[in-house]
Amino acid sequence: MTTIFAIETSCDESAAAIVRGRTVVASIIASQIDVHRLTGGVVPEVASREHLQALGGVIAACFGEGGLGWADIDAVAFTCAPGLVGSLLMGSMAAKTLALVHARPLVGIHHLEGHIYSAFLSDPALEPPFLCLLVSGGHTSLVVVEAHGRYRILGRTRDDAVGEAYDKVARVLGLGYPGGPAIDKLAQQGDPSAFALPGGRVASPFDTSFSGLKTAVLRLAEKHRLQSLPIDRADLAASFQRTVVEALAERVELALAHTGYDTVVVAGGVSANRGLRERLGQAGSYRAVFPPMRFCTDNAAMIACAGVARFARGFRSSLDLPVQSRLSLEACDSLYQ
Ligand code: KG4
Ligand code: ZN
Repeated sequence: MTTIFAIETSCDESAAAIVRGRTVVASIIASQIDVHRLTGGVVPEVASREHLQALGGVIAACFGEGGLGWADIDAVAFTCAPGLVGSLLMGSMAAKTLALVHARPLVGIHHLEGHIYSAFLSDPALEPPFLCLLVSGGHTSLVVVEAHGRYRILGRTRDDAVGEAYDKVARVLGLGYPGGPAIDKLAQQGDPSAFALPGGRVASPFDTSFSGLKTAVLRLAEKHRLQSLPIDRADLAASFQRTVVEALAERVELALAHTGYDTVVVAGGVSANRGLRERLGQAGSYRAVFPPMRFCTDNAAMIACAGVARFARGFRSSLDLPVQSRLSLEACDSLYQ
């Protein structure tokens, strides 16, 4: 069975993992959250320096946890796009050096393909075709996964990504960084019908828009502040969360009807959201597959899992493969020789 060692450094997590088939043998994630909390968000130069400092230890810990050596590894996978260029470069240099020194093939992975494959870690029988709702800090899209590695984007956000909207609203509510988990937690104690907020309907039924919703929350908070009125942050968090979840669920259900598929995979950091898990998980007419909780936000196990699928289908990347800050999921075959 194929065994892949992978590195992920696209944003603010330095991660390494070993996956055999669809089983995680080892997974180490060094988060930079405490560093970025000081600035309320990721500063790219700081992130790449942190990766440089962390990677050696993370890679050693990964092999230590897995109890494996290089003799067990078939290939090296790494996130090459999209992401912060300085951060991607750190993982790229490490992966290429290891591939060269240990004479193993290199497999570059698109970060979002990695997120899609995180769901394969919770359902070993999962196979395309299926619909995928990709919801992370940088991306929000509805993807038709027609076959392994064959993607068609059905809809995307016109402005903010869902995770980005969570992070910005959290900042307004004084909940710190990253905002998603904090709002999700606070929302459990609030009344979701306390505030009526705009769901962001746009011309295409599969596209989303969250900037209006974000602004509405901002205005509400500002109005209360100016009038020195207390605002129930839990009610606002719950109302925001319900509006987001309903907007996403509506598009997913429409897209399932459109494609005729009966399975939706939810992936990306926001797939950890409790409201989204409950809403889509309880629908009777289709199946929603979520990644294991620890593999929702950025990690290297998902990159290794995607690497297993690519490697098994004969895909190999050149040692010259550049990192790219932007790359469409539909173009990810360009990463291979
Ligand atoms: O996929 P990810 O780790 O990084 C990107 O590729 O962007 O996603 C991070 C995003 C952040 O915006 C974070 O606030 C959000 O995922 N997030 C959540 C939750 N956990 C993480 N959003 C809502 N509810 C959560 N429980
Ligand atoms: Zn991500």
